[in-house]
Amino acid sequence: MFFEAFSPYIFLITVSFLASLSTSSSIDSVIYGGCSQIKYAVTSPYQTNVNSLLSSLVNSAAISKFNNFKVSLPGSLPCDVVYGLFQCRGDLSPSGCRDCVAHSVSRLGNLCPGVTGGVLQLDGCLVKYDNVSFVGVEDKAVVFKKCGPSNGYDPDWLNHRDAVLGYLTGVGQYFRAGGSGKVQGVAQCVQDLSVNECQDCLGEATESLKTECSSASWGDMFLAKCYVRYSDHAHHLRNNNPNELTDKTLAILIGLITAVILIIILLSGFSRLCDDQKDGK
Ligand SMILES: *[C@@H]1O[C@H](CO)[C@@H](O)[C@H](O)[C@H]1NC(C)=O
Repeated sequence: MFFEAFSPYIFLITVSFLASLSTSSSIDSVIYGGCSQIKYAVTSPYQTNVNSLLSSLVNSAAISKFNNFKVSLPGSLPCDVVYGLFQCRGDLSPSGCRDCVAHSVSRLGNLCPGVTGGVLQLDGCLVKYDNVSFVGVEDKAVVFKKCGPSNGYDPDWLNHRDAVLGYLTGVGQYFRAGGSGKVQGVAQCVQDLSVNECQDCLGEATESLKTECSSASWGDMFLAKCYVRYSDHAHHLRNNNPNELTDKTLAILIGLITAVILIIILLSGFSRLCDDQKDGK
Protein backbone atom coordinates (compact mmCIF):
# COMPACT_ATOMS: atom_id res chain seq x y z
CA MET A 1 0.00 0.00 0.00
CA PHE A 2 0.85 3.64 -0.40
CA PHE A 3 1.87 4.28 3.18
CA GLU A 4 4.01 1.21 3.46
CA ALA A 5 6.02 2.57 0.58
CA PHE A 6 6.25 5.90 2.43
CA SER A 7 7.11 4.76 5.89
CA PRO A 8 10.94 4.58 5.68
CA TYR A 9 10.94 8.18 4.53
CA ILE A 10 8.44 9.64 6.88
CA PHE A 11 10.48 9.81 10.04
CA LEU A 12 13.59 11.33 8.48
CA ILE A 13 11.62 14.03 6.79
CA THR A 14 9.65 14.76 9.94
CA VAL A 15 12.79 15.20 11.99
CA SER A 16 14.48 17.51 9.51
CA PHE A 17 11.30 19.50 9.07
CA LEU A 18 10.69 19.85 12.78
CA ALA A 19 14.24 21.08 13.21
CA SER A 20 13.76 23.78 10.59
CA LEU A 21 10.31 24.76 11.76
CA SER A 22 10.68 25.74 15.37
CA THR A 23 10.00 29.37 14.55
CA SER A 24 6.88 29.05 12.39
CA SER A 25 3.35 29.25 13.74
CA SER A 26 1.76 26.13 15.14
CA ILE A 27 -0.96 25.57 12.49
CA ASP A 28 1.82 25.21 9.91
CA SER A 29 4.03 22.96 12.05
CA VAL A 30 4.89 19.73 10.27
CA ILE A 31 3.72 16.51 11.94
CA TYR A 32 4.92 14.15 9.22
CA GLY A 33 5.53 14.06 5.50
CA GLY A 34 6.72 11.65 2.86
CA CYS A 35 6.95 10.77 -0.80
CA SER A 36 6.12 7.76 -2.88
CA GLN A 37 9.20 5.94 -4.17
CA ILE A 38 7.77 5.46 -7.69
CA LYS A 39 9.12 7.81 -10.35
CA TYR A 40 7.00 8.91 -13.27
CA ALA A 41 8.27 9.43 -16.82
CA VAL A 42 9.57 12.99 -17.23
CA THR A 43 7.94 13.23 -20.64
CA SER A 44 4.46 12.41 -19.27
CA PRO A 45 1.91 15.13 -18.53
CA TYR A 46 1.78 13.85 -14.94
CA GLN A 47 3.46 16.89 -13.38
CA THR A 48 0.97 19.19 -15.10
CA ASN A 49 -1.87 17.12 -13.67
CA VAL A 50 -0.30 17.30 -10.20
CA ASN A 51 0.11 21.07 -10.39
CA SER A 52 -3.48 21.45 -11.50
CA LEU A 53 -4.65 19.18 -8.68
CA LEU A 54 -2.69 21.05 -6.03
CA SER A 55 -4.06 24.43 -7.06
CA SER A 56 -7.60 22.98 -7.06
CA LEU A 57 -7.01 21.84 -3.49
CA VAL A 58 -5.92 25.31 -2.39
CA ASN A 59 -8.87 27.02 -4.08
CA SER A 60 -11.31 24.56 -2.59
CA ALA A 61 -9.87 24.94 0.93
CA ALA A 62 -11.20 28.51 1.07
CA ILE A 63 -14.76 27.17 1.09
CA SER A 64 -14.64 23.73 2.67
CA LYS A 65 -12.72 21.73 5.25
CA PHE A 66 -12.39 18.67 3.02
CA ASN A 67 -12.40 17.94 -0.68
CA ASN A 68 -10.93 15.49 -3.14
CA PHE A 69 -10.15 15.70 -6.84
CA LYS A 70 -9.17 13.44 -9.69
CA VAL A 71 -7.28 15.25 -12.44
CA SER A 72 -6.59 14.07 -15.97
CA LEU A 73 -5.95 16.96 -18.34
CA PRO A 74 -6.34 16.44 -22.11
CA GLY A 75 -3.47 14.36 -23.51
CA SER A 76 -3.14 12.27 -20.34
CA LEU A 77 -3.01 8.47 -20.39
CA PRO A 78 -4.87 6.45 -17.75
CA CYS A 79 -1.61 6.08 -15.78
CA ASP A 80 -1.24 9.89 -15.67
CA VAL A 81 -4.41 10.39 -13.61
CA VAL A 82 -3.71 11.94 -10.20
CA TYR A 83 -5.94 11.69 -7.11
CA GLY A 84 -5.67 14.01 -4.17
CA LEU A 85 -7.38 15.39 -1.12
CA PHE A 86 -7.02 17.83 1.73
CA GLN A 87 -8.50 17.76 5.22
CA CYS A 88 -8.42 20.72 7.57
CA ARG A 89 -8.80 20.44 11.31
CA GLY A 90 -12.48 21.00 12.10
CA ASP A 91 -11.93 24.15 14.17
CA LEU A 92 -10.05 26.14 11.50
CA SER A 93 -11.72 29.16 9.93
CA PRO A 94 -12.11 29.18 6.11
CA SER A 95 -9.10 31.49 5.76
CA GLY A 96 -7.12 29.43 8.29
CA CYS A 97 -7.90 26.29 6.31
CA ARG A 98 -6.95 27.88 3.02
CA ASP A 99 -3.67 29.26 4.41
CA CYS A 100 -2.77 25.88 5.89
CA VAL A 101 -3.45 23.99 2.64
CA ALA A 102 -1.60 26.64 0.61
CA HIS A 103 1.37 26.32 2.94
CA SER A 104 1.31 22.53 2.74
CA VAL A 105 0.98 22.53 -1.07
CA SER A 106 3.90 24.91 -1.52
CA ARG A 107 6.07 22.67 0.68
CA LEU A 108 4.89 19.51 -1.10
CA GLY A 109 5.87 21.03 -4.44
CA ASN A 110 9.53 20.97 -3.34
CA LEU A 111 9.30 17.85 -1.22
CA CYS A 112 8.54 15.15 -3.81
CA PRO A 113 9.98 16.07 -7.23
CA GLY A 114 9.70 13.41 -9.94
CA VAL A 115 7.73 10.85 -7.94
CA THR A 116 4.06 9.89 -8.20
CA GLY A 117 2.81 10.81 -4.73
CA GLY A 118 3.31 12.88 -1.64
CA VAL A 119 1.73 13.48 1.73
CA LEU A 120 2.17 16.25 4.27
CA GLN A 121 0.37 16.51 7.58
CA LEU A 122 0.70 19.91 9.19
CA ASP A 123 -0.78 20.69 12.56
CA GLY A 124 -3.86 22.22 10.91
CA CYS A 125 -4.28 20.22 7.71
CA LEU A 126 -3.44 17.14 5.66
CA VAL A 127 -2.66 17.17 1.93
CA LYS A 128 -2.08 13.97 -0.01
CA TYR A 129 -1.92 12.95 -3.67
CA ASP A 130 -0.94 9.89 -5.70
CA ASN A 131 -1.62 8.23 -9.06
CA VAL A 132 -3.29 5.33 -7.23
CA SER A 133 -6.77 6.08 -5.94
CA PHE A 134 -6.81 6.06 -2.14
CA VAL A 135 -9.88 8.25 -1.73
CA GLY A 136 -12.72 6.60 0.15
CA VAL A 137 -10.50 3.75 1.33
CA GLU A 138 -10.28 3.20 5.08
CA ASP A 139 -6.61 2.94 6.02
CA LYS A 140 -5.63 2.43 9.64
CA ALA A 141 -1.87 2.09 9.13
CA VAL A 142 0.07 4.00 11.79
CA VAL A 143 1.93 6.77 9.97
CA PHE A 144 3.18 8.78 12.93
CA LYS A 145 3.18 8.37 16.68
CA LYS A 146 4.89 10.14 19.49
CA CYS A 147 4.60 10.14 23.28
CA GLY A 148 5.67 12.81 25.75
CA PRO A 149 7.58 12.13 28.96
CA SER A 150 5.86 9.97 31.56
CA ASN A 151 3.71 11.59 34.21
CA GLY A 152 4.40 8.73 36.60
CA TYR A 153 1.46 6.78 37.93
CA ASP A 154 -1.24 9.30 38.77
CA PRO A 155 -4.67 7.61 38.85
CA ASP A 156 -6.53 10.92 38.95
CA TRP A 157 -4.71 12.22 35.89
CA LEU A 158 -5.23 8.91 34.07
CA ASN A 159 -8.97 9.10 34.74
CA HIS A 160 -9.08 12.53 33.14
CA ARG A 161 -6.99 11.33 30.20
CA ASP A 162 -9.23 8.30 29.63
CA ALA A 163 -12.35 10.46 29.96
CA VAL A 164 -11.02 12.77 27.25
CA LEU A 165 -10.16 9.87 24.95
CA GLY A 166 -13.60 8.35 25.57
CA TYR A 167 -15.26 11.65 24.74
CA LEU A 168 -13.26 12.08 21.53
CA THR A 169 -14.27 8.71 20.15
CA GLY A 170 -17.75 8.52 21.71
CA VAL A 171 -19.94 9.60 18.80
CA GLY A 172 -19.50 9.54 15.07
CA GLN A 173 -18.10 12.97 14.32
CA TYR A 174 -15.29 13.88 11.97
CA PHE A 175 -13.86 16.42 14.41
CA ARG A 176 -14.01 16.61 18.17
CA ALA A 177 -12.05 18.52 20.78
CA GLY A 178 -12.50 18.50 24.53
CA GLY A 179 -10.90 18.50 27.93
CA SER A 180 -11.18 17.06 31.42
CA GLY A 181 -9.17 18.38 34.33
CA LYS A 182 -5.79 19.35 32.95
CA VAL A 183 -6.07 17.05 29.94
CA GLN A 184 -7.10 18.28 26.50
CA GLY A 185 -7.60 16.28 23.35
CA VAL A 186 -8.50 16.49 19.70
CA ALA A 187 -9.66 13.90 17.16
CA GLN A 188 -10.00 14.27 13.40
CA CYS A 189 -10.95 11.95 10.56
CA VAL A 190 -10.44 12.49 6.86
CA GLN A 191 -13.96 13.05 5.62
CA ASP A 192 -13.79 10.59 2.76
CA LEU A 193 -14.54 7.96 5.42
CA SER A 194 -18.11 7.15 6.38
CA VAL A 195 -19.12 8.14 9.92
CA ASN A 196 -18.86 4.48 10.96
CA GLU A 197 -15.42 4.05 9.41
CA CYS A 198 -14.34 7.25 11.15
CA GLN A 199 -15.47 5.96 14.53
CA ASP A 200 -13.73 2.64 13.88
CA CYS A 201 -10.52 4.44 12.92
CA LEU A 202 -10.64 6.73 15.98
CA GLY A 203 -11.32 3.73 18.23
CA GLU A 204 -8.21 2.03 16.96
CA ALA A 205 -6.09 5.17 17.27
CA THR A 206 -7.28 5.64 20.87
CA GLU A 207 -6.49 2.05 21.84
CA SER A 208 -2.99 2.34 20.36
CA LEU A 209 -2.50 5.67 22.11
CA LYS A 210 -3.40 4.12 25.49
CA THR A 211 -0.98 1.23 25.06
CA GLU A 212 1.86 3.16 23.42
CA CYS A 213 1.73 6.28 25.57
CA SER A 214 0.32 4.65 28.73
CA SER A 215 1.16 7.38 31.26
CA ALA A 216 2.79 9.93 28.99
CA SER A 217 1.90 13.58 29.57
CA TRP A 218 0.99 13.90 25.91
CA GLY A 219 0.52 11.58 22.96
CA ASP A 220 -0.03 11.77 19.20
CA MET A 221 -1.39 8.87 17.15
CA PHE A 222 -1.76 9.52 13.43
CA LEU A 223 -3.26 6.75 11.32
CA ALA A 224 -3.52 7.23 7.56
CA LYS A 225 -7.14 8.44 7.72
CA CYS A 226 -7.61 9.71 11.28
CA TYR A 227 -5.74 10.94 14.32
CA VAL A 228 -6.15 11.34 18.06
CA ARG A 229 -3.97 13.61 20.20
CA TYR A 230 -4.07 14.44 23.88
CA SER A 231 -1.98 16.66 26.06
CA ASP A 232 -1.49 17.94 29.53
CA HIS A 233 -2.87 21.47 29.57
CA ALA A 234 0.61 22.81 30.17
CA HIS A 235 2.15 20.97 27.22
CA HIS A 236 2.21 21.22 23.47
CA LEU A 237 -1.48 21.17 22.55
CA ARG A 238 -1.72 24.45 24.39
CA ASN A 239 0.22 26.06 21.56
CA ASN A 240 -2.27 24.66 19.10
CA ASN A 241 -5.11 26.68 20.52
CA PRO A 242 -5.32 29.85 18.44
CA ASN A 243 -7.48 31.59 21.08
CA GLU A 244 -4.89 31.16 23.77
CA LEU A 245 -2.20 32.37 21.41
CA THR A 246 -4.29 35.44 20.63
CA ASP A 247 -4.84 36.02 24.33
CA LYS A 248 -1.10 35.83 24.91
CA THR A 249 -0.38 38.21 22.03
CA LEU A 250 -3.01 40.59 23.39
CA ALA A 251 -1.51 40.47 26.88
CA ILE A 252 1.96 41.25 25.50
CA LEU A 253 0.51 44.07 23.40
CA ILE A 254 -1.35 45.59 26.36
CA GLY A 255 1.83 45.32 28.42
CA LEU A 256 3.82 47.11 25.73
CA ILE A 257 1.26 49.89 25.28
CA THR A 258 1.09 50.42 29.04
CA ALA A 259 4.87 50.65 29.21
CA VAL A 260 4.99 53.17 26.37
CA ILE A 261 2.26 55.33 27.98
CA LEU A 262 4.12 55.20 31.31
CA ILE A 263 7.35 56.30 29.64
CA ILE A 264 5.57 59.17 27.87
CA ILE A 265 4.00 60.32 31.15
CA LEU A 266 7.34 60.09 32.92
CA LEU A 267 9.17 61.95 30.14
CA SER A 268 6.57 64.72 29.98
CA GLY A 269 6.79 64.95 33.77
CA PHE A 270 10.58 65.35 33.55
CA SER A 271 10.42 67.95 30.82
CA ARG A 272 7.88 69.94 32.84
CA LEU A 273 10.25 69.65 35.81
CA CYS A 274 13.03 71.03 33.61
CA ASP A 275 10.79 73.85 32.39
CA ASP A 276 9.84 74.70 35.99
CA GLN A 277 13.51 74.76 36.96
CA LYS A 278 14.28 77.03 33.99
CA ASP A 279 11.41 79.35 34.96
CA GLY A 280 12.69 79.37 38.53
CA LYS A 281 16.14 80.58 37.44
C1 LIG B 1 1.50 5.21 -11.42
O1 LIG B 1 2.66 5.68 -12.05
C2 LIG B 1 3.65 4.71 -12.30
C3 LIG B 1 4.88 5.39 -12.87
O2 LIG B 1 4.57 6.20 -13.97
C4 LIG B 1 3.08 3.63 -13.25
O3 LIG B 1 4.04 2.64 -13.47
C5 LIG B 1 1.82 3.05 -12.65
O4 LIG B 1 1.22 2.15 -13.56
C6 LIG B 1 0.83 4.13 -12.28
N1 LIG B 1 -0.31 3.56 -11.58
C7 LIG B 1 -1.56 3.74 -12.00
C8 LIG B 1 -2.62 3.08 -11.16
O5 LIG B 1 -1.85 4.38 -12.97
